[in-house]
This record gives sequence, C-alpha cells and structure tokens, in this order.
Amino acid sequence: MGALPKDAAFWSKISRKYASSPIRDMDGYLKTLERTKSYLEPKDNVLEIGCGTGSTALLIAPDVAHITATDIAPGMIEIANEKLASEGLKNVTFKVAELRDHSSAEAPYDAVLAHNLLHLLPELDRALASIAALIKPGGLFISKTVCAPAHGGWKYALISKVAIPVMQAIGKAPFVSFITPDTLEQKIKTAGFDIVEAGDKTGMLTSHYVVARKL
Ligand SMILES: C[S@@+](CC[C@H](N)C(=O)[O-])C[C@H]1O[C@@H](n2cnc3c(N)ncnc32)[C@H](O)[C@@H]1O
Repeated sequence: MGALPKDAAFWSKISRKYASSPIRDMDGYLKTLERTKSYLEPKDNVLEIGCGTGSTALLIAPDVAHITATDIAPGMIEIANEKLASEGLKNVTFKVAELRDHSSAEAPYDAVLAHNLLHLLPELDRALASIAALIKPGGLFISKTVCAPAHGGWKYALISKVAIPVMQAIGKAPFVSFITPDTLEQKIKTAGFDIVEAGDKTGMLTSHYVVARKL
C-alpha cells in the first residue's frame, strides 16, 4: 500500500531501541487497551497491522480466539517472536507483512486493529479500503492515529514543515502524513464504516482513537 522499502528498513533499524523505550503515557495506553478489549469477544479472530514489537497483541491475546499481528519491519517481528516464545501463548501469530500482503483468503476478521500506523501510510484511502475488505460486515476497525491539531499552531508548523522534513532528508524519520481527526473520520466512513466511538488525547499532535463498524 505504497509503503516504501526504506521505511521498512528504518523501522527495523530502530526496533531494539523502540522495544526498550518506555511507553510515554502508560495510563493512557492502558485505558485505550481496556477500551479496545471491551469491544472484543472470546470467539474473535483479530488482525493487528503495524504491530511493532507485539506488546499490544500479547496483551489482547488472552481475550480473543486468535490474533495475527503483522508489521512491515522484520526487526520488529523478530522482537515480537522473542516475546511470544517467552510468554508461551498459543493463539498469537506474528509475521512480516505489509497491508497489501493480506489476502481475502485469511479474512474476514472480526476486528482489525491499527495503533499508531495510519499516519505512516502514503496511500491512506487505498489502505482503508483494503482494511475494510478484510473485516466481516458488522466487524470492527479500531485505530489510534497521530493527527494534526485541528487549529494548527506555530509549534505544529515548525515540526511538520521543518523538523520532520529535515529528519526525513537524513534518514532519521519515516514517511508521515498528518491529517485532522475530522478528516480521518471522514476517510474511515468513506471506506465503508460507521463511527462507533472516537476520542482525542490532545497535545502538539493529537492522538485520535476511533472505533468503527463495517457496514
Ligand atoms: C509507531 S510504530 C507503532 C507500533 C505499535 N502499533 C505501537 O503502537 O507501539 C509503527 C509501526 O508500523 C510499522 N509500519 C509502518 N508502515 C507500515 C506498513 N505499510 N505496513 C505495516 N506496518 C507498517 C512500522 O514498522 C512500526 O513497527
């Protein structure tokens, strides 16, 4: 879905550092996790895309029938599999995959999760259509996305127009595209979903949590 091989290399390269960095807002992370779990059922077959080092998938696994968790970066999946081996859960599969690698043969899923991923995808509309195709009617798409603040601001302008492009030019940042929470919700609806719940954690960048039901 347009993700660049250099982005896979970028994320693989930083995977050990990513794994050892503490979660910045643990309280917020745990609240989102519990909120997400409240929508899932023990019979559910779940897919998580952009799973990183697999922490969320491993915490969700006890509450569902099976979770397949994928990431474009082999380094991330290597760490996820190390964690899986030490935890011994039987209903988790980690694999290296990009969104376009998922086929309808493995679908439909009861739920697809994408945490901190959608702002990294160059072709968001196509990605959302592909995600919709993987979910059964009535199933859920649960995402948390870094978004542009609704009212901009000079700090956001500095980050998005100067700092990130400079970091990208020297290979220290991946592709990113920030849209506002409203635009994101509109795109999710256009892909064939109803919004069930949405909420923001605001800061210089907004973290937008959306639960959407496939029509
Ligand atoms: C910011 S990290 C988030 C990881 C994890 N979901 C979390 O919330 O901690 C983004 C992850 O998305 C992965 N990624 C980036 N582009 C992707 C794509 N096109 N398909 C699948 N994964 C992708 C990266 O390798 C990275 O592990």
